[in-house]
Amino acid sequence: MGSLYTNSLRIIKEGQSDTGAYIASPNFPTYHYCWLRDGSFIAHAMDTAGEFASSEAFFQWVGRTILKYGAKVENVRYHLEVGRPIGKDDVLHTRYTLDGNEVTVDNAWGNFQIDGYGTWLWALAEHVRLSGNTALLEELCEPIQITLRYLELVWKLPNYDCWEEHPEYLHPYSLATAFAGFDSIASLVRTGQMEAGPVVVEKLAGQVKDFILKYAMHDGRLVKHVWPAQAREFPKPITESGVDSSLIGIAVPYNVLSPDDPLMQATMQAIEVNLHRQAGGVYRYQADVYYGGGEWLLLTAWLGWYYALTGKIEQAESLRAWIESQADEDGCLAEQVIDHTLAPKYVEHWQNKWGPVAKPLLWSHAMYIILVNAIQENTSK
Ligand code: BGC
Repeated sequence: MGSLYTNSLRIIKEGQSDTGAYIASPNFPTYHYCWLRDGSFIAHAMDTAGEFASSEAFFQWVGRTILKYGAKVENVRYHLEVGRPIGKDDVLHTRYTLDGNEVTVDNAWGNFQIDGYGTWLWALAEHVRLSGNTALLEELCEPIQITLRYLELVWKLPNYDCWEEHPEYLHPYSLATAFAGFDSIASLVRTGQMEAGPVVVEKLAGQVKDFILKYAMHDGRLVKHVWPAQAREFPKPITESGVDSSLIGIAVPYNVLSPDDPLMQATMQAIEVNLHRQAGGVYRYQADVYYGGGEWLLLTAWLGWYYALTGKIEQAESLRAWIESQADEDGCLAEQVIDHTLAPKYVEHWQNKWGPVAKPLLWSHAMYIILVNAIQENTSK
């Protein structure tokens, strides 16, 4: 394994607090917290590397944190039952301090993002599959059930997407994480590794999948956003915003659709044409202005992961090589590289606001580790 791999493991270990939480980025003040989304992929990367103690500590941290705030779920249920609006702090938050507390310094943050809750369940089930650690399922039984009850209540509500934008819509990516959360637990129950709880996970997984197939499709491919149901209106796809690279997740890893499904193939083709810069990296979406909308290393690795799992090893290798070429002299990967931005005039605005692009970003290192291991596993098949 090359040194970027070793370095990535080191950066992740150094970024893991004694509590088990992973910091999103140690050198970027706005990211001095642990996001369930980033953290779950980082834990998964550690699992693919056989570093089970690290991922286990993360899942235990998630469990304690969810227990601490779990009472919110019944409050959300009550609000929905009596038709009261749900406030931004009534929900389970998307990120926490490394000690597992809600972040209170920035009151305007879009806390309501459901995807991390589906993703942690998916990553936990993967952890059990890879490590055989079924005892952890017993230990985390309560936070798992709280998460399932929460997802059952909120999966159809508009919430911020995985880029922390567009709270007015639903997002196929986020829906896919809910599917994966329900589906992963359903298969643990089916295989006798977990006892069935009160949430009917198998049925819910089916409902989420049907919803995606019914409302998130336009022109034979998936869209980035869905307009939520209104009083007398069904949900409908938002057609103008095009595709988003996070849609890769619909197949890899969440498995709502298989990579050979025509709908997935058309979606991937749109991502390749519109969001993958030739011989370069992968953009989030066409209208991105965050730091000018550069190429995201974690998405480049994600596309490579998809290629590795679908037998396109050469393409996966070339994305891997591109990512390696973007590491700095200390072996650090940034969140994005801004040499070929989609909206250059916005670079300065963000640099003035939050400083240089976050580096190292643990999630970038995590996706690189996942990619390297996926290439290795699928080459030796
Ligand atoms: C990204 C999120 C990410 C967070 C922390 C944000 O800029 O849009 O996806 O979870 O940074 O890395």
